[in-house]
Amino acid sequence: MKRTHTCGELKKKDVNKEVFLDGWVQSRRDHGGVIFIDLRDRYGLTQVVFDPSSNKEVHVVAEKIRREFVLRVKGKVRPRKEGMINPNMATGEVEVICDELEILNEADVPPLEVDDRKISNEDIRLKYRYLDLRRPSMQQNLMIRHKIAKATRELFDSLNFLEIETPMLIRATPEGARDYIVPSRVNPGMIYSLPQSPQLYKQLLMVSGMDRYYQLARCLRDEDLRADRQPEFTQIDLEMSFIEQEDIFEVLDKLMHHIMKKVKGIDMKISFPRITYEESMSKYGNDKPDTRFGLELVDVSEIAKNSEFSVFQSAVSSGGCVKCVNVKGKADFSRKKIDELEAFVQIYKAKGLIWLKMDKELEGSITKFLTKEQQKGIIEKTKTEKGDLLVFVAGKKKIVNDALGQLRNHLGKELKLYKEETYNFLWVVDFPLFEWNEEQENWTPAHHMFTMPKKDSLKHLETEPGKVIAQCYDLVLNGVELGSGSIRCHRADIQNRVMAAMGIKREEAERRFGFLLEAFKYGAPPHGGFAVGLDRLVAILCGVPEHDIREVMAFPKNKAAQCPMDGCPSQAADSELKEVHLKWNIVKKE
Ligand code: AMO
Repeated sequence: MKRTHTCGELKKKDVNKEVFLDGWVQSRRDHGGVIFIDLRDRYGLTQVVFDPSSNKEVHVVAEKIRREFVLRVKGKVRPRKEGMINPNMATGEVEVICDELEILNEADVPPLEVDDRKISNEDIRLKYRYLDLRRPSMQQNLMIRHKIAKATRELFDSLNFLEIETPMLIRATPEGARDYIVPSRVNPGMIYSLPQSPQLYKQLLMVSGMDRYYQLARCLRDEDLRADRQPEFTQIDLEMSFIEQEDIFEVLDKLMHHIMKKVKGIDMKISFPRITYEESMSKYGNDKPDTRFGLELVDVSEIAKNSEFSVFQSAVSSGGCVKCVNVKGKADFSRKKIDELEAFVQIYKAKGLIWLKMDKELEGSITKFLTKEQQKGIIEKTKTEKGDLLVFVAGKKKIVNDALGQLRNHLGKELKLYKEETYNFLWVVDFPLFEWNEEQENWTPAHHMFTMPKKDSLKHLETEPGKVIAQCYDLVLNGVELGSGSIRCHRADIQNRVMAAMGIKREEAERRFGFLLEAFKYGAPPHGGFAVGLDRLVAILCGVPEHDIREVMAFPKNKAAQCPMDGCPSQAADSELKEVHLKWNIVKKE
């Protein structure tokens, strides 16, 4: 290698040094015969000067240079002239006067600008991802990703964890999404699944006595995509034996502390705060609250049900609720603004948004339906002061929580109630074991079916499954579910009761994960674990808008789960299908 320095390295102290630089042409300017180029590599930019008065031949070659050409430059470092110093550039005090130039490769005019100020549309970016990745901000994101992975490995190593790979071609692991499947060539008519997570395999590693496992695990899920969901993603996955919930919290608190210190230079205060699922739903309307700001939801059903306002009355009498958010100091919101907020909650199926403004007393169209006593009750419960705006949603609990929870996040952002660079980690604990699935009309696991119920709620397993609390926990960062985990059901008797409550027959359990149940017969230790969504963590620490995880993945898929660059998924040729004993018979969906 001839390169002596990177393009982000040269400083005043290097003046007069003979250097070799390799890189791409970011820009080229011709100033009356003298040509200036900015040479770019992963480390930065350096200004290179081609002056015909100091080297005529090199200047002639330099005239051919275009954007994105690949160059090798030999030259001498010199200070920039007074007034030409660029304080925004790490190498802005110096330039290299070129005396040897080699064009290592030419480049066609790039279909997108390699420039953070000119970002192309998504299709172009993904089609020419290798060019998009030349942009400094994308390179920065991947560097931060690398740092997080490195810090993760350091921490786990210091805590005696073993990094163990688990298979990609597996029997289906139930995580709640659809599996990607791979037909077997050597076993006609049979398929492998790609792992939605290493869940069962890490549990088996505990049965094997590995004690502490971790892996930066690739996971594949065939589900509808969103900004924070990709078909392929990475988890920081771990499992530990002979532990309780507290031990997992301790390890994760340490892991996040170490990552924040190494990557952001922030010394986070641990242990992270905790909140129960129930409290989270009640105060924030969801199980992943953004605690960087207030605007908490207040349940005023008890007062509202006795009011004369029929919307309030009927919401409560039909089993729903009335909740309110005190938007502090915003009584001056215009009618138009409040209409906008109403349209916002309607996206989340709320029928409407009722409002009251506080001046000397409450004002608004529904005050006539509220007694003075009821108004006083509302003011006290919501800690309302002069100048505040109260917004209410009434209806089914799920809709009220969802609509007001979303409105809370919307207002928090819009009113700039927090600084972007604040990091609020939070544990959400005591999730219910099951959720009622309206479509399938049965109980399905809120996390997954290998989760251990809390001891004191085991009694409800057969009678009131909805009441069973699980030893299950989520780690939330700034309103994003960063990861989930649980203490597992290591005892066959409890596991069987959980499956029975879900209506899973013994034969079905045997067929789907009999191998795990069998392993549990041979001395399974108590164990539990966790998985952090690495992509989500990286996106937050990189400050990516809307936390779009595609910005922190080298080669993500688009919203239709396709890759415009390599064109996958692609039509399978008949010969390829034949090899795996398949024939197309595409059934059109209704
Ligand atoms: P879970 O399914 O909750 O738990 O996943 C853990 C974390 O992985 C991230 N995640 C995703 N990230 C990007 N794209 C996706 N499609 C996607 N799906 C999930 C989220 C999520 O919190 N085996 C269990 C963990 C355990 O119990 O140990 C599991 O996979 O950040």
